[in-house]
Amino acid sequence: MKNKILITSALPYANGPIHLGQIAGAYLPGDIYYRYQKLKKRDVIHICGTDENGVPITIEAEGAGKSPQVLVDYYYDNIKDSFERMGIVHDNFSRTSIQLHHKQAQDFFIKVYDKNYIVTKNIKQYYCPHCRRFLADRYIEGTCPYCGCDEARGDQCESCGRWLDPENLISPRCKVCGDTPVLRETKHWYFRLDLLQPELEKWIETKKHWKNNVKKFCRGWFNEGLKPRAITRDLSWGVPVPLKEAKDKVLYVWFDAPIGYISSTIEWASKIGEPDLWKDYWLNPETRLIHFIGKDNIVFHAMVWPAMLIAHGDYILPSEIPANEFLNLKGAKFSTSRRRAIWLHEVLDTIEPDLLRYALSVNLPENKDTDFDWDDFQNKVNNELANILGNFVNRTISFISRSYSSKVPGAHDLKDEDKYMLEFLLKTKNNMEEKIEGFELKKGIKALMELAKKANRYFDKTKPWENIKKNKDKCSRTINTCIQIVDGLATLMEPYLPFTSRKILKMLDINKNEWDSIGRPRIPENKEMGKIEILFKKVENETIKIEKEKLGIEELKMADIISIEDFSKVEMKVATIESAEKVENAQKLTKMIVDIGGEKRQIIAGIAEFYEPEELVGKSIIVVTNLTPAKIRGIESNGMLLAATKGNDLVLLTIDKEIDPGAKVS
Ligand code: MF3
Ligand code: ZN
Repeated sequence: MKNKILITSALPYANGPIHLGQIAGAYLPGDIYYRYQKLKKRDVIHICGTDENGVPITIEAEGAGKSPQVLVDYYYDNIKDSFERMGIVHDNFSRTSIQLHHKQAQDFFIKVYDKNYIVTKNIKQYYCPHCRRFLADRYIEGTCPYCGCDEARGDQCESCGRWLDPENLISPRCKVCGDTPVLRETKHWYFRLDLLQPELEKWIETKKHWKNNVKKFCRGWFNEGLKPRAITRDLSWGVPVPLKEAKDKVLYVWFDAPIGYISSTIEWASKIGEPDLWKDYWLNPETRLIHFIGKDNIVFHAMVWPAMLIAHGDYILPSEIPANEFLNLKGAKFSTSRRRAIWLHEVLDTIEPDLLRYALSVNLPENKDTDFDWDDFQNKVNNELANILGNFVNRTISFISRSYSSKVPGAHDLKDEDKYMLEFLLKTKNNMEEKIEGFELKKGIKALMELAKKANRYFDKTKPWENIKKNKDKCSRTINTCIQIVDGLATLMEPYLPFTSRKILKMLDINKNEWDSIGRPRIPENKEMGKIEILFKKVENETIKIEKEKLGIEELKMADIISIEDFSKVEMKVATIESAEKVENAQKLTKMIVDIGGEKRQIIAGIAEFYEPEELVGKSIIVVTNLTPAKIRGIESNGMLLAATKGNDLVLLTIDKEIDPGAKVS
């Protein structure tokens, strides 16, 4: 086994806050793995930072009417703060807009250029006549030629993960103005992936144990044959291409961003006053380089980045790329640029980080996409975390406080049932090690919960509450065993639930977890326990309701897919309003008589704040006619009208040419 570990987590774009999809995909797994390695006392560092260059930043800044610098400054702070609150720790959290990184990326480029892995090409590139500029990758959208998704971007299709060239898009359009772009001549610098394919293939061959999702992607690209890729862009924001003849061009963000892993390590080394220490990691074949990423980043980490490293020649290559699938929001993907997400910093305003860490850990999208759902979250916290883990810790420590004046009873002559539990603790430790080291983090936390479950059963079966009178020895054996397990649990949970682990240590009045001493009981007889604290407060329905409202889940529900049959059950007709008046003592309600073609109906609707009665009379509107009549404030309403609403606005649906009332709407 190599003796150093360099962990990186994908550098998030500083174009928006962090959402739960990203946490489950890369950041929480990276943190769990790092904390575990720390507990194992390995020489390990965790490196991250924000990705602040490229089109994702400029598009967002333009949309917000801010300069890219203002935007990335804001989100750098926001993201760093969210990670800290979530307990996600990095040895260094850098950013790619700093001078150190620019220089690092430029030097990298020059070295690869000098080795003839970068060449120029005159090409035709999409240019938007309306915006009067060349459209760099993400400024173009269109239909993906592989999967047909019509929101594919010029650089990649998020839906199928394929790496694209803008020219591949079917019906391309300018992202900013929607116009159809035209092809114009320009010059760009290309990275010769084609030259590197043989070496890459050889290298990936050695990664037999890698997850299938990564290997499958690579095989696909190799079969097609790698082609040179443009690594420059026409943008005014980013790392300038360090060549005189390339002024006004910057490096493609995916060329500079992974170099950010190196820059961030260099920054870390100088911050801790050992400026050369970064070399112990990046230049040392005895270091394992591990990249935690989400699956949309696979192509860059498993292929482009290793190719860059091979071309450059000085640095080590990745050992492991644990790439997760996606955590979805009710079946769709989280997306920062589309602002469709549960934002970490908002959740943390009301929810303790460990509750979230738990719910995400047991639901990590390690082998397939998983769904996030607030009801499921509540269920996991209340029925697993609180009822099983919290309960065991609590009943043990409470028992010591009540029955032994807070002093741990001794354990003499352990019996098989007690020994079995201590052995199971040790077994759980070994099992968790194997799982975490194999990047099966979900199985790791499940093993921990299994131990807690067993411990509860042991407590139930050995009945200390009876034996405190009937069989004092047995009672103290049980309680002593339980407190050793509580201590073991505190250590085992630290990678997953660091805040809870701390709380337990405080109750045990111990200052540090010792992973490798698990199984050797370390709480001595007569040790005095600290103050009891509730570990997990149950999540109330009210909290869940608030979270769902933030997300607009109610709206999403309405948009659930229904069949044509379902839809055709709704009968709608054109109706003419014959009379209208406000309902007395009800500010919002209007009472109307409408003609639905030979039949008159009375309808009560909440539109009084938007329309005066006299405006309504004579209007043709759309009414649902086959609903069960309802009583609103005691007045019968026999139909429902259709209106469009947004925020505080409401407008009635009407018809755009005359047609007789009673006409069916279909
Ligand atoms: N910013 C990218 C994303 O959020 C990830 C960059 S990872 C790095 O998808 F390797 F380029 F740094
Ligand atoms: Zn345009």
